[in-house]
Amino acid sequence: MTPTIPDNAPFSREQRSWLNGFLAGLYSVQEVNPATLGFAAPEPTAPAIPVTVLFGSQTGTAEGLAKKTVKQLNTNGFAAEAKALDAVDPADLAATAYLLIITSTYGDGEMPDNAQLFWDALADDGAPRLEQTTFSICALGDSSYPDFCQAGKALDTRLEALGAQRLHPRIDCDIDFEDPFSEWLDSVSEALAEPSGDGALALA
Ligand SMILES: Cc1cc2nc3c(=O)[nH]c(=O)nc-3n(C[C@H](O)[C@H](O)[C@H](O)COP(=O)(O)O)c2cc1C
Repeated sequence: MTPTIPDNAPFSREQRSWLNGFLAGLYSVQEVNPATLGFAAPEPTAPAIPVTVLFGSQTGTAEGLAKKTVKQLNTNGFAAEAKALDAVDPADLAATAYLLIITSTYGDGEMPDNAQLFWDALADDGAPRLEQTTFSICALGDSSYPDFCQAGKALDTRLEALGAQRLHPRIDCDIDFEDPFSEWLDSVSEALAEPSGDGALALA
């Protein structure tokens, strides 16, 4: 509200009128210019850090968990995106800083169908070096099979051999996967959020 000079203030009518006009002008300028009121300009926000979440899934379980992962990470301020392993060329991973893989195992210790092409390219001698990539794997399986979680184990070993660094150790989930998956997701979220070391972002 614009202040006015009280009628009993020791000014003549002309002086009071001039002062009231001056105050009205001053306050109208302050209303349109927040800087004159002492408000700081908003800090520019840093762009969200991208996290690639890849899934290998035959019947949808790993895909569902990948979508949950993306949702949690995006809520935490990251720019996460889920894709099937076969939708990605391993050559593109060299530029991927943060990589999470959730994969089941099928057949007798084999990749699910939507991870086979990716695996063939990653296992090839021409696969790129991945020193700039930090990763973690959540493997789904069933311990009644002799090659328990073999697809996740093979991806984990191969990524390490190509020079990628682990953000968090692989977990191997049996048919009751909910709790170990949640623990993995929480640990991975924390590791990504660490302000120093491997972490990517300090969360508020
Ligand atoms: C036909 C078949 C073969 C499987 N082979 C294996 C296996 O060799 N090793 C393993 O650990 N799990 C195996 N599993 C278990 C799956 O990996 C597990 O059920 C997983 O949670 C399925 O995830 P998805 O729906 O994302 O494919 C197999 C399951 C089926 C139906």
